[in-house]
Amino acid sequence: MNESSQGGGHANESFRFVQLSDLHLSSIGVPNPFNLLNKRILGYLSWLRKRRHTHQRWVLDLALRTIQELEIDHFAITGDLTHIGLKHEFIQAREWLELLSDPFNITVIPGNHDLYVNEKWDCSFKYWENYLLDNDESKHGQFKSDDALTRLNQIYPVTRVRNNTVFIAINSVFDAPWFRATGHIHERQLSRLRNLLNQEELQKYCKVLLIHHPVTLTDTPKRKSLLNYEIFNTFLQQHPVDLILHGHGHHSSTDNISINTNKQIPVIGMSSSSSISQEHGYQAEFLIFEVNKDQDAWNINKQSYTLDINERRFIPGDIKNFITAPVCKAPTSV
Ligand SMILES: [Fe+2]
Repeated sequence: MNESSQGGGHANESFRFVQLSDLHLSSIGVPNPFNLLNKRILGYLSWLRKRRHTHQRWVLDLALRTIQELEIDHFAITGDLTHIGLKHEFIQAREWLELLSDPFNITVIPGNHDLYVNEKWDCSFKYWENYLLDNDESKHGQFKSDDALTRLNQIYPVTRVRNNTVFIAINSVFDAPWFRATGHIHERQLSRLRNLLNQEELQKYCKVLLIHHPVTLTDTPKRKSLLNYEIFNTFLQQHPVDLILHGHGHHSSTDNISINTNKQIPVIGMSSSSSISQEHGYQAEFLIFEVNKDQDAWNINKQSYTLDINERRFIPGDIKNFITAPVCKAPTSV
């Protein structure tokens, strides 16, 4: 970790972070049958048949060894660390997170697999609190619901300022019906996000929005889509951020949301960081982002490291550059 990662608010420095996603790193093993008397039975069967073969721990370990050789300030993990969100899977994921770095340097958001069914907070996301929550300890006591989904929708959006960047984490998961992996952003979250993005203090940072589900429908089947994506797109037109990162699709994608003739928000989706798929666009990857202030704009470089399964190494791709100009003034409310 660079020294600059130890404190927030250095708006003129360079900041490098890595995005990992859809790790599915846990092993379900032999679960208690009572835990499968719900939608989880589908996820368990899918894990038995396919997912435990597709998502391999050695791929993730190789990614980590490669990342450790790069100068990285922060890890952003865009959900789906588990398969069906059982308590022992949350514990396994936390043990893995502890190998990475200090919780200050890791931001995790929930994926739909992590809330496969609505669970008690103390049996699920409680194990990841240090990675999910912001630094304002005084706020956390007010979230008392023992229901995981209610609590997530109370907590989010979460902001974490690191160096010249503010990560704005959104919860898009809910207890979707059987055979659906859809997402939804709760109205109260949007209302809090609006207030947040209007804060003058936030305007000096590069605003990186982290969400598990894609915010556009490009390449996303309906059964995996963000249900209120149109509302959210309209919201973003009026309250733009500088970069949107998501996972969920298990494939690489680059899209954008056009704000005006000067400004587009890059929308980056990535494949799973643990997959052994050799299909083009679906190979395991991790993404390195470097954020620099360039006069009144943000200059963002993105580089994908993709798994070459034959050589058993992650190979760096070309650097892609995004300039999000001009840095917006705080917009007025809708
Ligand atoms: Fe997902």
